[in-house]
Amino acid sequence: MYAIAIDGPAGAGKSSVAKAAAKALGFVYVDTGALYRTVGLYLLRSEVDPADAEAVEPKLRDIQVDLKYEDGVQHVILNGEDVSGLIRTPEVSMAASACASVPAVRKFLFSAQVDMAKKYNVIMDGRDIGTTILPNAQVKIFLTASPEVRAERRYKELKEKGVDVSYEETLANVIRRDKQDEKQSKAAEDSILLDNSELDFDGTVNRLLEIVEERT
Ligand code: C5P
Repeated sequence: MYAIAIDGPAGAGKSSVAKAAAKALGFVYVDTGALYRTVGLYLLRSEVDPADAEAVEPKLRDIQVDLKYEDGVQHVILNGEDVSGLIRTPEVSMAASACASVPAVRKFLFSAQVDMAKKYNVIMDGRDIGTTILPNAQVKIFLTASPEVRAERRYKELKEKGVDVSYEETLANVIRRDKQDEKQSKAAEDSILLDNSELDFDGTVNRLLEIVEERT
């Protein structure tokens, strides 16, 4: 099996870039953030503080999270319910980020991620893919951009989805999330840094495919 790990901060474009590259390479794209978002959604629904490790831990026993693919598109299933359309709100983003710092949550989601890479050639994006989930990935990329550029992109994306937010609020969220994610978001020593502050989407995808080709 062949694995490409893409880590980096929120809003660097990991998921859209990884999706396009997966299509070009015929790989399965695994969005691991969706798993944390699904746990975050469950905790919000259960009115459990996602940052409270002691409260979160017992709740994990009530959660079953599965990944399903339909026409190459990943869906996340929470206790039998397809919640893919419910996990992209700013509230769920913050809850996902908060619960992601609970070690029991990371442990809980570990095998779902590793299993995907055992079954398929994958491009997997997240925060700790190159360091923890797939330390033996053939290619590791750390994709990043400045906070302002990332906030601008996120803002546009949310606006297009009809979410009512301001740019300032989005930037504050990006910075807050960076801070919250700091602990688990590290570039693997053998990763290649790809800063796309000055690159557009196609430029970033092409650079990624070039890196994969150089490494293969
Ligand atoms: O990538 P995305 O923004 O969807 O991830 C949501 C949150 O889940 C991130 O802010 C991060 O805290 C957490 N996460 C993580 N490890 C991953 C993927 C996501 O901690 N592999």
